[in-house]
Amino acid sequence: MTEARIIRVAGAIAEAEPLGDTALYELVEVGERRLLGEVIRIQGDVATIQVFEETSGLGLHEPVRRTGSSLMIRLGPGLLGSILDGVGRPLNGLAERSGDFMAPGMTMPTLDPDARWSFTPTVAAGADVSGGDVLGEVEERPGMVHRVLMPPGSTGRVVDIEQGTFTVTEAIGSLSDGTALTLSQPWAIRQRRPFANHLPGDRPFITGQRVFDLLFPVMEGGSVAVPGGFGTGKTVIEQSLAKYAKADIMVYIGCGERGNEMAEVLHDFGRLTDPETGRSIMDRTILIVNTSNMPVAARDASVYLGMTIAEYYRDMGYHVAILADSLSRWAEALREIAARLQEMPGEEGYPTYLANRMSRLYERAGRVESQGTPTRTGAVTFISAISPPGGDFAEPVTQASLRVVGALWALDPRLAHQRQFPAVDWDISYSLYADGTRAWFSKEGGADWSELRVETVRLLQRDRELREIAGLVGVDALEDEDRLVLEGARIAREFLIGQNAFHPHDAFSSVEKTYQLVKMLWAFMQTGETALKEGTAFEKLDLAAVRVAFGAVKTAAPDELGEEISKAKRTIAEMRPA
Ligand SMILES: Nc1ncnc2c1ncn2[C@@H]1O[C@H](COP(=O)(O)OP(=O)(O)OP(=O)(O)O)[C@@H](O)[C@H]1O
Ligand SMILES: [Mg+2]
Repeated sequence: MTEARIIRVAGAIAEAEPLGDTALYELVEVGERRLLGEVIRIQGDVATIQVFEETSGLGLHEPVRRTGSSLMIRLGPGLLGSILDGVGRPLNGLAERSGDFMAPGMTMPTLDPDARWSFTPTVAAGADVSGGDVLGEVEERPGMVHRVLMPPGSTGRVVDIEQGTFTVTEAIGSLSDGTALTLSQPWAIRQRRPFANHLPGDRPFITGQRVFDLLFPVMEGGSVAVPGGFGTGKTVIEQSLAKYAKADIMVYIGCGERGNEMAEVLHDFGRLTDPETGRSIMDRTILIVNTSNMPVAARDASVYLGMTIAEYYRDMGYHVAILADSLSRWAEALREIAARLQEMPGEEGYPTYLANRMSRLYERAGRVESQGTPTRTGAVTFISAISPPGGDFAEPVTQASLRVVGALWALDPRLAHQRQFPAVDWDISYSLYADGTRAWFSKEGGADWSELRVETVRLLQRDRELREIAGLVGVDALEDEDRLVLEGARIAREFLIGQNAFHPHDAFSSVEKTYQLVKMLWAFMQTGETALKEGTAFEKLDLAAVRVAFGAVKTAAPDELGEEISKAKRTIAEMRPA
């Protein structure tokens, strides 16, 4: 057979001929430097390839080799704490070998081939096993049990399985047909991993951001779009969630964003510890880095890579959160490739299949019962930032997301400009999970959680109406009751919804702290209303003391929270003149 050669190169796209009976999405090695690429179109003998690496210097007539497989990742112990590029190569490993960030054409196994893991089987010889069954356990990180699973679709009888220390590819045992069992398994990243049953969500994903937990909650297994124009705080939200939100495992995908931001992530995450376990947050984190200076085709892959890793841990019975920043850069990569292929463009130049691809991606989130025994339930929660050009939400990526997500956290540049962070526009944001999470918050937060939520939304709406009126007639012309509403809403914005991501005790709010702050808000409103009814003038209320008290609770360290709340309650009760 004649060897395939490059006949055309244009940006991230190369054409090769003849590539024989290649299949769509077959992985190929392109050129002398063996750049990784993927077949994305076949026309007769000519295959079009998207190349995941920098193509400059790639010449005509250089050879192209087929690999016989699609883009796979090897899943197994050692993923936690790793920093991967868009196609799953460990960046620290690459840097050690090349002295550079990433030299093209360098393949590196995702998992360290030399690392040895102590494995304890939970099945015995003679067991009939099939896809998803737990074969045994490895302690991947301190306190983090990695369940070793039968690969989906496989089945057989175990003839031997051993306790011991193994690398990810050594045999830990075998099946009666001779198949070796290992600690790891390959998976084609574009393919969704199977599960037994879809389950409804049963608890919220605690974000630690009061505006979300209280007003726009998300369910474990839910999906959220976070669109916002330039500088509205998308990255700060995604990073805050990755650092402080409650999930067993975090997959952070830095997709097409600035390199220096990812450098900050690496720096911050390395130093932070989880207050509950006292361990580094990297112990539960996987970072996928695909910055704007890296090749565009790898951006497409990076999102599927993150999703596959998340599904793998979900299958073990964990709750995984995926934080993607930003899905717009992924969509732009699709657009760029489609343009190179001279496909018929859809809306704003995006390929016509954009909405379809996006919904298939979002559908990989959810709460499920895993395949196999023992029974496990796991969930993937998907929170993706979107960067609409000019902040205009009418554009295709935002619109396609809105058709499938369960919650919208819309960011407003005016609020960001006023330094009201997180700059969530409470008028247009919504959550379809509020009803589903109500029972949990009533039990774990407080019995009147939902009531307080509804009242707070109403207060913010009333505030907007009053401010429009005040804009016409002046604040002084308003009734005292209305001025109290304006003051209550101001407290809500500043101390309840507002959170400073850079303050050590304000960056994360426990459910308890959120509940206490909203209770305080309504204690303030009630005391104020009573005072006004009894004839106290609005000006006479000691608002300055109240504001100081709210500020103290908002920024209280965990061990001072109780005391500050008691003090604040007294201040509120005493805000009327004697
Ligand atoms: N919760 C917060 N607390 C304090 N400051 C914040 C918060 N959120 C955002 N900011 C401020 O806003 C700036 C911009 O935020 P960020 O970089 O997250 O925006 P972005 O939407 O990701 O921007 P881009 O469109 O450039 O990606 C931050 O550098 C920070 O100064
Ligand atoms: Mg950003």
